[in-house]
Amino acid sequence: MKTTIGPARSSIAPLEERIDRAIHGVLAAFPDAQRLSADERRGIIARYTAVLEGNFIYWMTAAYLAVTTEQAHAIIRDNLHEEVRDNHPGMLRKFAIAAQAVPTDSDALAVHRNLQNVRLFVARLSAVKLLLMMAFFEGWITRFMPYLAELAGYQGSAEREYTDVHGVCDVVHTQELFRALEGEMTQAPEPLPPATELLEGVDLLQALIHSIAQPPRGVIPEGVGGSR
Ligand SMILES: [Fe+2]
Repeated sequence: MKTTIGPARSSIAPLEERIDRAIHGVLAAFPDAQRLSADERRGIIARYTAVLEGNFIYWMTAAYLAVTTEQAHAIIRDNLHEEVRDNHPGMLRKFAIAAQAVPTDSDALAVHRNLQNVRLFVARLSAVKLLLMMAFFEGWITRFMPYLAELAGYQGSAEREYTDVHGVCDVVHTQELFRALEGEMTQAPEPLPPATELLEGVDLLQALIHSIAQPPRGVIPEGVGGSR
């Protein structure tokens, strides 16, 4: 384990704290699983799946394309290898099917606007900002797993491969992403903008996770006003 505290380390410490606070904030946005109706539980699992299944590897790939240091490339490559080799999207799909929470078109629409905002941000391929966003994403995913597993349990599902795997591996991934970030920040050609600007991707992803927790008003919930 790395124990040295150098200048780069201390410069990312405030950012790590900000991300930690952001993770606590989004976790608190999810209602108590016990108090949710079956349809609300289904909705959360379905919207989570709609956001994660097709986007995680793509956003991690964007981070890979954006970074410049060999260390950051190596760290992200390992992460992507694991995602692809162990078929994480397939694991998540299996989890959603078992919990009877396969995303529908209404679930996709409920996260659509915030998802598009994250995609537009990702398209700019800003290395430091993207690494911060992905560290936040990994950190949140790990801490969200017990809740997601609890929702699935109430849905009558015993399928736990996805939640078991992500409750463990993403702890390491988060730390590794911070290490990649340290290197990228040291290599940055120009002085970095203030933290508020660096956390742009984190803010956009936070908004997206909020729409997983509670579908925005104005989106027709599943089973209302339709015949499907
Ligand atoms: Fe994964």
